[in-house]
Amino acid sequence: MNKAMPLLPDSASQFAPEIDRLMGAEIIFSVFFTTLIFLSIGVLALKYRRKSEEDAPPHIHGSLILELAWTLIPFAITLVFFVWGVHLYFRVYTPDPSAMEIFVTGKQWMWKIQHPEGPREINELHVPVGRPVKFTMISEDVIHSFFVPAFRVKNDVLPGRYTNFWVTPTQVGKYHLFCAEYCGTQHSGMIGTTYVMEQSDYEKWVSGGEESMTLRGEQLFSQYGCATCHLPDGKGRGPSLVGLFNSMVKLQTGAVVKADEAYIRESILNPRAKVVEKFQPVMPTFQGLISEEGLLQIIAYVKSLEKEEGGAQQ
Ligand code: CUA
Repeated sequence: MNKAMPLLPDSASQFAPEIDRLMGAEIIFSVFFTTLIFLSIGVLALKYRRKSEEDAPPHIHGSLILELAWTLIPFAITLVFFVWGVHLYFRVYTPDPSAMEIFVTGKQWMWKIQHPEGPREINELHVPVGRPVKFTMISEDVIHSFFVPAFRVKNDVLPGRYTNFWVTPTQVGKYHLFCAEYCGTQHSGMIGTTYVMEQSDYEKWVSGGEESMTLRGEQLFSQYGCATCHLPDGKGRGPSLVGLFNSMVKLQTGAVVKADEAYIRESILNPRAKVVEKFQPVMPTFQGLISEEGLLQIIAYVKSLEKEEGGAQQ
């Protein structure tokens, strides 16, 4: 419970006070104008009521100044809220490039969370305080929505597409984690707990000795035979993946695309969608063979191939 404002949930991210301010301002304006309108209706109805059978009011033919005033003033007020809201929205959904990453898979009816260092958890989320965290999320089935009220941010988790948001947790503690999109009979049970930990506690927790996502991805990479074609020297039947992540890739069609997470995922599931220049569309599809969690692990491995190129091996 929020101590300063008992009606609100805890405030545990850098966005929370800002979002509360915007909400507060909107509520104050709404209450002010609602009261003004209802009072006016009452006062004017009484003041200009028909007082006798013969009572006939004067005809009014409109007033340009009045029309302009009650059009432009509300327009200006809503525009202020629009700009304020958009500014906040873009900051929430534009992750800090230095943010650490956490991967979320939504599934009827649970949240599966993977930390790059290794730990995996279900319906629990551990994050360190004071560090920006970027969430990359995808659904195995239907649309879910990842919502931590104390962070004041939520984003839909969609099948077939990665979505993101980021926060910097500001207060150590234990908070709710909800699914905020009706997703079937057990939707109300798709809940969990968010633990914001001291950084040193988190470091200890995260290095619990499990295999990293990169390592799991590497195992899948050889298990599915990817390594037989994607040779690191580029002489295989498929293009080399070293340094691929975030690079620009030229396709057979002449188009150039950025090799981000979505591109790598599509290339695994639907390899013919974007065939790399000078290569043949010989790769089979892995649709239905690899779970979304596995795909995230393979992507983590492909990302690490880029790091190795720079000499900093993980
Ligand atoms: Cu998942 Cu509601």
